Amino acid sequence: MKRVFVTGHKGYIGVHLVDLLKAQGHYVAGCDLNLFEGCEWEPCVSTDVEYLKDFRDLTIDELKGYDSIMHLAAISNDPMGDLDPEVTYGINREGTKALAEKARAAGIPQFLFSSSCSIYGKGDKLDIDESGTTAPLTAYASSKIAAEEHLKKISDASFKSVCLRNATAYGHSAMLRIDLVVNNLLACGLSRGDIRVMSDGSPWRPLIHCKDIARAFIAFLNYETNNPFIVVNVGSNSENYQVRDVVNAIQSKIPQANVVYTGEVGADPRNYRVNFDKLSQLLPDFQLEYNLEKGVNELHEKLRKYGFKLTDFDGDQFVRLRTLKKRLSKITG
Ligand SMILES: NC(=O)c1ccc[n+]([C@@H]2O[C@H](COP(=O)([O-])OP(=O)(O)OC[C@H]3O[C@@H](n4cnc5c(N)ncnc54)[C@H](O)[C@@H]3O)[C@@H](O)[C@H]2O)c1
Repeated sequence: MKRVFVTGHKGYIGVHLVDLLKAQGHYVAGCDLNLFEGCEWEPCVSTDVEYLKDFRDLTIDELKGYDSIMHLAAISNDPMGDLDPEVTYGINREGTKALAEKARAAGIPQFLFSSSCSIYGKGDKLDIDESGTTAPLTAYASSKIAAEEHLKKISDASFKSVCLRNATAYGHSAMLRIDLVVNNLLACGLSRGDIRVMSDGSPWRPLIHCKDIARAFIAFLNYETNNPFIVVNVGSNSENYQVRDVVNAIQSKIPQANVVYTGEVGADPRNYRVNFDKLSQLLPDFQLEYNLEKGVNELHEKLRKYGFKLTDFDGDQFVRLRTLKKRLSKITG
């Protein structure tokens, strides 16, 4: 049994992480500002201790006695990050740096940071590995790079960190989001009867089920290393898709839905295909539980059973940006 502190434990990935950690018998503390309170569509597993506050207000004392901190709390995508870049930098960059300093001072030996493959932005070549050039296109992506750089600076033998550069998540969670490409296209097809693609369908994206991200965090909890600082892409080489492949996977579940390429965003500048060899080298026993087809089947079934409708698609509950706009004062003070 380990003692684990999770920030952002009430988010889309966080609820899977708490569920899996508790199922394995770990003691779990959580800290979340509850920005998306009321957005859950299934019950979520509780932590042993819960701080419903800004992680930036955690004290060193509150962080003492844990074996690992898994830092997921963040303004968690590009459009939200661009809503107020100053807030995004305040939480994702400065907040993460300060949390890492406090965790180190509290004697937590391991810091697992939820970074993102979106830092590769407009990939200058395909199959980018961890040594590849980062080309952040948004405040969100820049904030993740800055946080990684700080962790690199302060990590040592007694404070080891791993930056998990996660692929784009999709799939079912008790805190479902439909503002992620796969979930959005599936929910759109089901509720509107058409699959509306904002790009021309050509951009590459690495994809991963949100539960597999949670599983990767747990795999690193048990990972022994002398290396004080690791950056690793989290996903699978076989799970890189062009958006049009995602559309095809969804259309096979909803054959009656028309596909509409709206071209709203022109040629989407975010385009990256990622190499995940390092993950298999570090964790040879770790395999993804889901591929796109399995994840789409599962979510399609859940949405159908729920009776997911147009009002759900157009509403606030499953779209982080819409809820955040109404609750921004919670993080701007
Ligand atoms: N979802 C993805 O595709 C994806 C991909 C790569 C990386 N990530 C990263 O993984 C992490 C989790 O993503 P998610 O999809 O679960 O996001 P989410 O928005 O569903 O969850 C984020 C949680 O953090 C909380 N939070 C935000 N600011 C806070 C603060 N200042 N103090 C305390 N709590 C705060 C929110 O209330 C929310 O519950 C994020 O760091 C995100 O950047 C996500």
